[in-house]
Amino acid sequence: MIRFENITKKYKDKVVIKNNSFEIEKGKLVAFIGESGCGKTTTLKMINRLIKPSSGKIYINDEDISKKDVIKLRRNMGYVIQQTGLFPHMTVKENIQVISKVEKRDPEQIKKRTLEMMDMVGLDYEFLDRYPTELSGGQQQRIGVARAFVTDPDIILMDEPFSALDPITRIGLQDELIELQDKLRKTIVFVTHDMDEAVKIADLICIMKDGEILQYDTPENILKNPSNEFVSQFVGKNRIWTSPEYIKAEDIMIDSPVTCSKSMTLLRCMERMRSRKVDSLMVIDSKSRELLGVVKAKQIQQQKDRTKAVEEIMDTDICSVKPDDSIIGILKLVDDNHVNNIPVLDKDKKLVGLITKSSLVTTLSQQFLDTEEIM
Ligand SMILES: Nc1ncnc2c1ncn2[C@@H]1O[C@H](COP(=O)(O)OP(=O)(O)OP(=O)(O)O)[C@@H](O)[C@H]1O
Ligand SMILES: [Mg+2]
Repeated sequence: MIRFENITKKYKDKVVIKNNSFEIEKGKLVAFIGESGCGKTTTLKMINRLIKPSSGKIYINDEDISKKDVIKLRRNMGYVIQQTGLFPHMTVKENIQVISKVEKRDPEQIKKRTLEMMDMVGLDYEFLDRYPTELSGGQQQRIGVARAFVTDPDIILMDEPFSALDPITRIGLQDELIELQDKLRKTIVFVTHDMDEAVKIADLICIMKDGEILQYDTPENILKNPSNEFVSQFVGKNRIWTSPEYIKAEDIMIDSPVTCSKSMTLLRCMERMRSRKVDSLMVIDSKSRELLGVVKAKQIQQQKDRTKAVEEIMDTDICSVKPDDSIIGILKLVDDNHVNNIPVLDKDKKLVGLITKSSLVTTLSQQFLDTEEIM
C-alpha cells in the first residue's frame, strides 16, 4: 500500500537517499534500521511529506502522494517521534485529543475514544489531567502511541519511539505494540537502531546504509541469510545462535500443524495422517482453535472400532509451550518428558504451532554449521 519508486533525496550535492524503491504491504510492520545518518528519518518523513523527495514518486494505495492534499494525507497517518513529541503545555487529554478537535469530530465520540486509547496503552484515566512532565518516560511514550492511534489512521509512522527508554520499559512497550498490531493490523513504518527490537516486532526489516537499501527481508532471512558482509556485520555474525535464549518456540515451530475436530472418526483421522504424512493429529475446537487433545497413529491402530470419534481416545494430558518460550526450555521439556512433538499454545490455549523433533534438530545443526564457519 506504500510504494517508493526510485526515490532520491539530495541536500545540495549530498545524496542522502539513493534511488530507493520498495513496497510496504497493508497491515505489515516494517522496521527500518541502519547506522546514524543513513536516511531512516528522511525516509519516514517523506511518507507524510514533511520532506520532499528530490526525484521519484511515493504512492499510497496507488495514489501519488505529491498530488494529494497534505492535510488529508496526514489525517490518515499517526506519527510517533522520538522523545514522544507531546506538547508540554497541554494535558495528556488535550494531547490525545488535539487532532480530533482540529478536525471537529463529535465531542462525545472524542471522549469515548480517548478512554479507549488509555485502556489500549494500559494507563489509568487519572493521567488524563496531568501534564507530560508529570509522567515517566515510558508513560509519555504510551501517550505518544495513544495519540498516534486515536484517529484510527491506516498508517502509523514511528521514529525510534522507544529508544530513550530503559530496557525493561522498552521490552514492555514492544510487547504491547505486538499485541496491538495483532489486533489492529495497521501499516506501521518503524524506525529503530536496535536489531533486537527490529527482529522482535517487525514483519519485514529494511537495512539501510548511506541512503541505500541493503536488504529488505523477513527477520528470519536477515538473521540467517544476510545479503552481504555489511548486513552480517550489522546483524552480528551468529547472533541468533550465540544467544539461544533468543530462539523462541515461534521461530522454530511449524505454523500449520495438521489438525482435526474432536468429532472426527478414527477412520478419517487415519486417512488424514496418511495423506498429510504425519503420525499424530492435534485435536482442536474448530471455532476457537483451542487444543483439546492429541491423537497418535499408534493409538488408533490399537482400536478395533474405527467409527468412534477421536475425542474418545485422544490424549488430553499434553505438555505444551508458549510462542515466546525459549529453545532452552523446550529442549529441557523434550528431555524430561521424552516427547516428540510439542504443541505451541497462545495464552488462550489456542494452537498456534507445533515443534517437532526434526525442527529442533534442524535448528541445532544450524548452530554447529555456523560455529564451524567462524572457527
Ligand atoms: N536539512 C538537512 N540538510 C542537510 N542534510 C541533512 C538534512 N537533514 C538530514 N540531513 C542528512 O541526511 C542524512 C540522513 O539523515 P536522517 O535524519 O534521515 O538519518 P537517520 O538515519 O534518521 O539517522 P539517526 O539514526 O541518527 O536518526 C544525514 O547524513 C543527515 O546529516
Ligand atoms: Mg533519525
